[in-house]
Amino acid sequence: MKYVVGNLKMNILSPLERDCYFKLFKKEIVGIKFKNTEIVLCPPFVYLEDFVSNLGGKYVRIGAQNVFEERSGSYTGEISPPMIKNLGAEYVIVGHSERRRYFGETNASANLKLKASAKAGLHPVYCVGETQEERDAGLTQNVVNLQIEEGLSDVPSAYLENIILVYEPVWSVGTDVVPTSDEVMEARILIKKILVDKYGAKFAERIKILYGGSVKEKNIERLCLEPGMDGVLVGRESLTPYEFIKLAQIISEK
Ligand code: PGA
Repeated sequence: MKYVVGNLKMNILSPLERDCYFKLFKKEIVGIKFKNTEIVLCPPFVYLEDFVSNLGGKYVRIGAQNVFEERSGSYTGEISPPMIKNLGAEYVIVGHSERRRYFGETNASANLKLKASAKAGLHPVYCVGETQEERDAGLTQNVVNLQIEEGLSDVPSAYLENIILVYEPVWSVGTDVVPTSDEVMEARILIKKILVDKYGAKFAERIKILYGGSVKEKNIERLCLEPGMDGVLVGRESLTPYEFIKLAQIISEK
């Protein structure tokens, strides 16, 4: 199975814009058959239920962009895994670089979110990747290694298969600067090796690894298909249904 995950971030500012998005999305996707490809859209929380009822199931799967690790209680402003699950969403993005950068999230907090989400039956989409400074300092391997080690620490093996990893070099998110095909392949090999060492070859083989960061029609071949990734996490291009669905078609046809 391949994955095309759209991260709508903090966009779509009104019910009018939301309805317009639904209309365009349905118009573009109707009649298209995707082979072996799961398409996931992650809207802002306020639209989660509308996305589930308008596009969920029939056209795509729906996910959240963030989650808190507790089930319920006095945590003002937070949203729990069962809340997301019970609305009919199936995925949740965890550890996105924007959460790490602007909201102080760490490998340890991602770990709590991953465990709580997987326990609630959600599929966490866990983002790892190095910043420009870390890359310049030759620290990519160490950083990604730690993100996986600490992020997946003590995740019960029954839940591990629910987790989808994304290699998302932070310097490529929102910048239109992208790695080469070889660099993505190297990251894939590195992540696989970490997983093999930790969980064994058979298990590591089953874990999906996506690429994220400035994915567009013109570079999806070299960022995803050539390096053998299992799909993509798409930011800006998911805001235009036509572009997003085209990416899903390219993935599904290969
Ligand atoms: P981008 O965002 O495609 O706009 O670079 C990717 C992401 O943040 O997931």
